[in-house]
Amino acid sequence: TGMCTFDPGFTSTGACQSQITFIDGKKGVLVYRGYSIDDLAEKGDFIDATYLLLHGELPTKSQREKFNFELTHHSLVHEQLIKFFQGFKHDAHPMAIMVGVVGALAAFYSDSADIGNPAERMRSCLRLIAKMPTLAAIAYKTSIGQPIVYPRNDLSYSENFLHMLFAVPTETYKIDPELARALEIILVLHMDHEQNASTSTVRTAGSSQANPFACIASGIAALWGPAHGGANEAVLRMLEVIGHVENIPDALERAKDKNDPFRLMGFGHRVYKTYDPRAKIMRSVCHGVLKAAKKENDPLLKIALELERIATSDEYFIKRGLYPNVDFYSGITLRAMGIPVSMYTVLFAVARTVGWVSQWKEMAEDPVPRISRPRQMYLGVMQRGFVSVESRG
Ligand code: CMC
Repeated sequence: TGMCTFDPGFTSTGACQSQITFIDGKKGVLVYRGYSIDDLAEKGDFIDATYLLLHGELPTKSQREKFNFELTHHSLVHEQLIKFFQGFKHDAHPMAIMVGVVGALAAFYSDSADIGNPAERMRSCLRLIAKMPTLAAIAYKTSIGQPIVYPRNDLSYSENFLHMLFAVPTETYKIDPELARALEIILVLHMDHEQNASTSTVRTAGSSQANPFACIASGIAALWGPAHGGANEAVLRMLEVIGHVENIPDALERAKDKNDPFRLMGFGHRVYKTYDPRAKIMRSVCHGVLKAAKKENDPLLKIALELERIATSDEYFIKRGLYPNVDFYSGITLRAMGIPVSMYTVLFAVARTVGWVSQWKEMAEDPVPRISRPRQMYLGVMQRGFVSVESRG
């Protein structure tokens, strides 16, 4: 246009400077603050990775304790907010509920508006990370008509999340350590991924100095779509549509047909044109959970494994660098864990909140803040004379 570079989808525009996450899509590398995602997922845990993203360094033992204390002591939500859940239609999608209730937190914590104050900024970050599982679990419990379960501070983040999702007052809920560990890995893998659609939405909203809870609500909205965080749910829905192993070749032909909008959900990535490093880790977690939960004979999971086998040796997918992504395996793992499909993207939102708040905080600390304001390529009619309504016929 002469005025700006036309870059639809921002494939080659760097919109910010960041010290948080590095991706090399060609080599399949992902690091948080210099630490490889493999090391963090295998040797670290939720607290390590969260502290690292937020503060820039792995915590010492005492920092870990303090951080864990702070996170657990922010996990309750205001009782009045719990009433909001009753206001939604009983079959509302939990992501719709999350967009609403997370945005509503801004109305409960007026101190969060003080974004120029570093202590308040950090408090908003901690509140968001701590309250997301509580809100997510309340959305689920409400949707199935069960009493809500309050958080327990003696449990780890992922144990507590499982407890709030699955405990019922009539029985003692025993947390399966294997499932808690799998959930912990899913959370660490999904925490941050530099300037993806939802994170750049959070930064865009934050660039106007909007309230942090409102900014995170905008991230949840952007994450919801099937081309982004909604993919893990879309994977399961697709497997249901395919229905049987025999139908896989047809599904592959449809995915290759440009006149057919059908795409293989859970395949391909904007940045990775080789195997997504998170997918590699998630694949082994997935196979472990299937075995532990004795779900290897689940018909949908059989279709998934066969689809993975056929598509990864198919010319079309290899040529385009389309490999199963992290959502392909996380969708299957969550199913084997007994987590309902409508909660998959919510779980992604819980994990990504750590990245969102870390990036929001980094943006808020930028010494030269600038409002996000992309330009456009105007293709409409140039100036013309106004036609009065009488003359329009
Ligand atoms: N199935 C069939 N063909 C595909 C697929 C797919 N899933 N993904 C890409 N292609 C083809 C596409 O048709 C194009 O072919 P051609 O070069 O012949 O025109 C080529 O591969 C490049 O695709 P693109 O649409 O230009 O790639 P993109 O970078 O714009 O899109 C994507 C990336 C992730 C949106 C896309 O691969 C997709 O829709 N995948 C399915 C949805 C999905 O799994 N999303 C989760 C992404 S990972 C987690 C996250 O970010 O939240």
